[in-house]
Amino acid sequence: MLFEWSPKFILGVKAIDDQHRKLVVILNQLDDLIKNGAPQSDSWVSIFNELLEYAQYHFKTEEELMFDHSFGGLQDHIKEHAFFRSKITSLKKGLDANDLHAIDELLYFLMVWLQNHILVVDRRCCVFLNQEGVV
Ligand SMILES: [Fe+2]
Ligand SMILES: [Fe+2]
Repeated sequence: MLFEWSPKFILGVKAIDDQHRKLVVILNQLDDLIKNGAPQSDSWVSIFNELLEYAQYHFKTEEELMFDHSFGGLQDHIKEHAFFRSKITSLKKGLDANDLHAIDELLYFLMVWLQNHILVVDRRCCVFLNQEGVV
């Protein structure tokens, strides 16, 4: 399993935790598909796009919550999300849809980025939201 879920990823804000859980499920689904030698690009491209769309939706949820509660770290957090978007966009452009090794590397990047982002950046925002009474 690419992203092994564990309680350390639970940050205490239900909407955010639920969305992280779902992102991890989709990411692992995609990894399974690649590891099992997806027969052709169509089979993973649609799940990959679903993952990216869900990530955008998730970023929006976090940014709105931080905005609503006037979180001081909002701009820095937005920058992190923007970095992820531009990185994925450029990686995707150079990707040969049938090159399973390249997509595997991309998934590894997604996993590492997501784990670090949850544990460091999202944690900071959830500690603040908890103090604001958001759980
Ligand atoms: Fe975030
Ligand atoms: Fe997040």
